[in-house]
Amino acid sequence: MAWHEAYGITKSFYSDECVCIVHGDFREVLPQLPDGSINLVLTDPPYTREYDWVWPILGNESSRVLIPGGSLITLCGHYHMPMVISELTKYLEWYWCCQIPNRRKPMQYGWHISVSWKPALWLTKGKAIIKHWPISDNLAAAGKASNLWQGNKTHPWGQSEEMAIQPILRIISNMDIVLDPFLGSGTTAWVAKKLGRKCIGIEIDERYAHMAADRCRQGVLFVTDNDRRCYTCGNILSSKRSDSRYCSGRCRQIAYRKRCSQIAACGKSIHT
Ligand SMILES: C[S@@+](CC[C@H](N)C(=O)[O-])C[C@H]1O[C@@H](n2cnc3c(N)ncnc32)[C@H](O)[C@@H]1O
Repeated sequence: MAWHEAYGITKSFYSDECVCIVHGDFREVLPQLPDGSINLVLTDPPYTREYDWVWPILGNESSRVLIPGGSLITLCGHYHMPMVISELTKYLEWYWCCQIPNRRKPMQYGWHISVSWKPALWLTKGKAIIKHWPISDNLAAAGKASNLWQGNKTHPWGQSEEMAIQPILRIISNMDIVLDPFLGSGTTAWVAKKLGRKCIGIEIDERYAHMAADRCRQGVLFVTDNDRRCYTCGNILSSKRSDSRYCSGRCRQIAYRKRCSQIAACGKSIHT
């Protein structure tokens, strides 16, 4: 994949067939991307007050780089949700508020609230294109619902892969492209690669860009939308397990414990 020719990226930190990681400030890198070149923006910016300036730029640039019908899904904090929605809806259309659950319910001191979910705001550029509907608004519906925040131990704000599986698997298709302008340790890029999608990730901190690159350097099986996937984690099922819905005993147990309906790769609802 010639990332320069297709997406105008002048200098990549790491690239392969599916993933291109750029080390830099998203404000300088995003303008390099052509208009209407991205199917999904899936991201997790820093949430503190000092980063309030991020939201109008994210909204404006997303509306430019997204294809018509493309989606932006961004995590944010509860405390500033009204401001974030107000900024993003200047550029994109409101679609839904999804949730990322956390069974550990950490205390939010100052608000005296034990927090059981994190918002993931979904906005679109015009009428939404969802390639494999339905999609659950519980982004962990495809995986375990415990401690999804700080899902990987390498990054202080690292998310679990479950946060990215549903949007990447359902909203877009094989070889469509997802953009994460706040890549951190590379969760979005790694999930995209595993699910047979392409990803451009931008990260300002070199340590995290290295982590993301090391993660994405791992090889994956080439998958298509017709391949069978584990109903819990979305990973491809090997042919040896052709009679199973799950890739491992752990995923089967998670599904049985939840006793809720899962959404299969084919789009049907399955009751475990
Ligand atoms: C909340 S973390 C993302 C964590 C990621 N979801 C993961 O699973 O590892 C936000 C990231 O944005 C990066 N960042 C902050 N300002 C940035 C900027 N101006 N351009 C690009 N990245 C930036 C930070 O270094 C941090 O790694």
